[in-house]
Amino acid sequence: IKLITIIGARPQIIKASALSRAIRTRFAHQITEVLVHTGQHYDENMSGVFFDELAIPQPTYNLGVGSGNHGEQTGRMIKGIEEIVLTERPDFIVLYGDTNSTLAGAIAASKVYVPIVHIEAGLRSYNKTMPEEINRVLTDHVSTYLFSPTQTGVNNLIREGFRTDNQPPYTIDNPGVFNVGDIMYDNTLYFAGLAKQKTYILERLGVQPETYVLVTLHRNANTDDASRLNSIFDALLILVEKYRINLVMPLHPRTLKQMSALLSPELHQSISTHPAIQLCPPVSYLEMIVLEQHAKLIITDSGGVQKEAYFFKKPCIILRAETEWVEIVDQGAAVLCDADPNQILQAFQFFEGPTSITFNPIYGEGDAAAQLLNLLIL
Ligand code: UD1
Ligand code: UDP
Repeated sequence: IKLITIIGARPQIIKASALSRAIRTRFAHQITEVLVHTGQHYDENMSGVFFDELAIPQPTYNLGVGSGNHGEQTGRMIKGIEEIVLTERPDFIVLYGDTNSTLAGAIAASKVYVPIVHIEAGLRSYNKTMPEEINRVLTDHVSTYLFSPTQTGVNNLIREGFRTDNQPPYTIDNPGVFNVGDIMYDNTLYFAGLAKQKTYILERLGVQPETYVLVTLHRNANTDDASRLNSIFDALLILVEKYRINLVMPLHPRTLKQMSALLSPELHQSISTHPAIQLCPPVSYLEMIVLEQHAKLIITDSGGVQKEAYFFKKPCIILRAETEWVEIVDQGAAVLCDADPNQILQAFQFFEGPTSITFNPIYGEGDAAAQLLNLLIL
């Protein structure tokens, strides 16, 4: 079986490590994989750093599409992917998640009748102002294999008319829907020990374990809206001063740009010069999971970081009004605080107190890659 895997944004590159590793170690005789990087993310610390660190094969193709308006960026990707698919004639195209690279792969492949394998299918925020919601709904509806990380995802698909009792051979009109667990968990289990041995990020940043809150922020709804961005940073500043806690915040390039453009000059100055706030460029995956493992608490609007907080049994404040990863909130391990300083501070105070969160294993066994490859070769 020949797969073309599309990657483009940081979390997709990281997820590709788990699938490539499973192919290399367990399916090398049955499956070949051609990696295509759309170039959606291109900075060394958003893309290049992960290949060596996570032993991901170098992409055979890099479309070098870069940043741009959604239509322009996605359009260039569709054109590039279509050409590659027509040349390579794969049996399947593999797409991760919900980025513009995902949608481009879905449109290109479905038009030339290449079956789509969608990893992270079925997730919904039910917020159609979110670009990712559009990308994932459209991708799911042209997929042949829908591999969901959760039962919630499967239930969402059933609500949209998908069935779980279809029989093989699966096609775009008779798709297979499966809960295989979360492929990010494969990586967390595989790399957590290694990361501690190989990484000196705490020393580099000069922070002690359990004395800091780890923060990431990059959703367009937060970064591109001046009022929300100022509210979030107001809340972070109050947190640092009221609770005498340190913050570590690896900044997505989009956030760095928007902080200069949209934060009030006083707030920008206070945040940038505060001795308890460590702003830094994006860190590598191994560095990130070490930061997560030793954080007191995590504040984020990232999908991946929400889940990693859960994997490492850390309470999480989610800077969104809704989440696709509802199980974490249902378990009481995370609180949805939107961009509201009062809710953020209340949630922090709550987690500071005596809480007993049970981190039940709700994201599978950490063998999602092997499970889904087994289904593909049937
Ligand atoms: C994208 C995904 C989002 C995902 C995130 C992961 C879409 C619609 N969004 O958001 O779902 O959670 O990736 O990180 O696909 N930039 C750089 N260097 C880079 C990459 C980006 O400077 O290497 C800057 C550019 O100014 C660019 C901006 O970041 O315009 C946004 O990048 P883009 O890829 O469009 O969206 P993300 O916010 O990264
Ligand atoms: N991540 C990283 N370095 C950072 C920030 C995040 O390696 O500086 C990793 C993080 O551990 C997780 C993934 O990137 O595995 C999440 O990606 P991101 O937050 O960009 O996107 P999302 O998951 O929201 O789509």
